[in-house]
Amino acid sequence: NKGSYEHYMQKEIHEQPESLRTTMRGRLIRGGFCKAKSVLLGGLKDHLKTIRRSRRIVCIGCGTSYNAALAARPLLEELSGIPVTLEIASDLLDRQGPIYREDTAVFVSQSGETADTLHALQYALDNGALCVGITNTVGSAIARNTHCGIHINAGCEIGVASTKAYTSQIVVMAMLALAVGDDTISSQLRREAIIDGLFDLPNKVKEVLKLDQEMKDLAEQLMAEQSLLVFGRGYNFATALEGALKVKEVALTHSEGILAGEMKHGPLALVDENLSIFVIATHDACFRLVLFSKQQSVIQQLHARKGRLIVMCSKGESSLVCPGVSVRVIEVPQVEDCLQPVINIIPLQLLAYHLTVLRGLNVDQPRNLAKSVTTQ
Ligand code: M6R
Repeated sequence: NKGSYEHYMQKEIHEQPESLRTTMRGRLIRGGFCKAKSVLLGGLKDHLKTIRRSRRIVCIGCGTSYNAALAARPLLEELSGIPVTLEIASDLLDRQGPIYREDTAVFVSQSGETADTLHALQYALDNGALCVGITNTVGSAIARNTHCGIHINAGCEIGVASTKAYTSQIVVMAMLALAVGDDTISSQLRREAIIDGLFDLPNKVKEVLKLDQEMKDLAEQLMAEQSLLVFGRGYNFATALEGALKVKEVALTHSEGILAGEMKHGPLALVDENLSIFVIATHDACFRLVLFSKQQSVIQQLHARKGRLIVMCSKGESSLVCPGVSVRVIEVPQVEDCLQPVINIIPLQLLAYHLTVLRGLNVDQPRNLAKSVTTQ
């Protein structure tokens, strides 16, 4: 049921304050007198010790689910102190990449039925790894066949383009990082700040959804474009990949997510006055200030080559991010750095949605695609 919305994708984008609340419900502990803020993940509690002892955490998924793992990796590495690697399920299988009994393999999947991810799960089970499932579908094959897991609880997602499941997957993986790192005293303040950030996240998502009309206007401006590059780095490299995936999947427009640090290693050659480029340059806290200033220099260089820039920055920071450069700016609320990808993807989801509708394409069922890819 689409309710008052015209399309499922639109409904699912706008549902995100509520879907995120459902994902976190009962899992965040507010703390209080003599009791620290913490997370409670019932499905994992008997396995946390094994996860903490693992030699490596390998996150495995396809498409948007892979991107969610990419967004969460920095935090998982930071709080667990364990090396975290990422695998696209089909590539892991093609290479028969090494998976060891000392590994924890985390399978991320909205449907829980994606064939490549399921085969990769069987492969990891055969190799003796502890297998954790993160799925949105209770009773799905991945949920049933993993040793333990966390349900995403984002509610049923109908649009082929994954939107609310993506933001909930990031939040679930942030909670996983918090749970795994829960025995480390040195990171307690950081964990508490993230938990506070999670409590407030649905309100911030509500705020960023107010950009709907602005993103529709931008879609009108970009309607005739053949291509859109999306630059991001750090936590928001994933946002660049995921934003580009949405644009190509539903708006049927070529789009590429680019790690900004790679700009001079090839992509810069494409830039001229005919190319539209979306740059994510939100403010990351503390040591990530370095990344922020690097992103400022990326903007300067793209501008110098006359690229048609759209810059996403934190509220009130446009003059800081693009001093002396006149570009179209999208301002978003600032949250804890590791949660910023949840906020930043929303304008790009809205942009992809409006571009598609303006072009008269089928937004909920793009050509050639299925919601669940159950064949290899
Ligand atoms: O159900 P899954 O999360 O395992 O699906 C993986 C991909 O097929 C899926 O995320 C796909 O990339 C989306 N349609 C993208 O919006």
